[in-house]
Parts: sequence; structure tokens; C-alpha cells
Amino acid sequence: MAAIILIIVLFFLISFAGVIFFGAPYLPTLKLQIKTALELADLSKGQTLIELGCGDGRVLIAAAQEGINCVGYELNPVMALIAWLRTRRYSSLVKIVWGDFWRKSWPEADAIFVFLLDKYMDRLDKKCIQYPYKPLKLVSFAFSIKAKKPIKTANGVFLYHYK
Ligand SMILES: C[S@@+](CC[C@H](N)C(=O)[O-])C[C@H]1O[C@@H](n2cnc3c(N)ncnc32)[C@H](O)[C@@H]1O
Repeated sequence: MAAIILIIVLFFLISFAGVIFFGAPYLPTLKLQIKTALELADLSKGQTLIELGCGDGRVLIAAAQEGINCVGYELNPVMALIAWLRTRRYSSLVKIVWGDFWRKSWPEADAIFVFLLDKYMDRLDKKCIQYPYKPLKLVSFAFSIKAKKPIKTANGVFLYHYK
């Protein structure tokens, strides 16, 4: 029994601590910023939002409630499972992908939402410049792209356009 508990504890530790080596640790976006992000993204029903590092799926749920198709990438297996379970109600709209979003080929979408860390923003900007499906809106909570002026900023959320 003790061995099983130890394995479970280790699994949780590795899942949460491991992500720190590959990207931003888990921290949820607050309700006001989710609302702001979706307003800035200004997507219509049927359009698609990608979330890079979707955590527990709260942004995807809010987007799906507006009829937006969503793809959420999540590296932490525990959070990916939680996001998958929480979004089952919207399974026709939301897809959860477990894995490192830097190593995935991102599908055609109208907007990307992120809440990462400052040090990943330049790399993200380069990926968005190379993204083949334009126009694309990038909405980032808390962290901006240093070399770019955002189109809009509200409540700590930044909007960028790629044409
Ligand atoms: C600051 S949290 C934001 C969670 C969610 N986007 C939200 O706003 O509530 C960052 C999330 O990105 C995930 N993450 C970090 N790097 C990643 C990577 N390379 N691939 C997939 N997920 C990643 C983390 O596990 C964490 O859940």
C-alpha cells in the first residue's frame, strides 16, 4: 500500500515539477482575464481557438460556451486529464492534446491563447510568424512580446495580429 502511495505521489511530483523544465508551471487564468481574452480574440461561433498549455481547461470551456471550436495542448498529464474530463460536456467542440505544444504541428485556427512566461514570448512570436494559416490573432495573458506593439491591451491581456 505504501509503495502505491509513493508511486502516486512521485507521479504527481514529476507531472507538476517536470513541466517547469519545459515551460510555464500551472497557474490558472482568472475569470476577468478569460472574459477579456475572449473579447480581444473576438471569435465567432464556428471559428477555432488554440490554447497552448490549457491547464484545467477553463479557457476552453468559456470559449466552447460561445460555440468556438477549441484545441488545447497540455504537457502535464494530470492537468491534461483534468482538462479532458472537464471539457467532456463540450466534446463536439473541444479537443485536448497531451504533449509539448512546441513539438506539435498546430492546426488551422483563428486565434491562439497563452499564459506562459516572459522567456517563451520571442519563440512564440517566431512560431506565429511562421504559422501557415493567417490571419491569426495571438492573445497573451500577463506576458507581452518585447519586440512588438500589441494591437490592444486590457486587464493585463495583450492582443497581436499576424497577417
Ligand atoms: C500558467 S499555466 C496556464 C494554464 C491555462 N492556460 C490557464 O490560463 O488557466 C501554463 C500551463 O501550460 C502548460 N505548459 C507549459 N509548457 C508547456 C508545453 N511546452 N506544452 C504543453 N503545455 C505546457 C503547463 O503545464 C500549465 O498547465
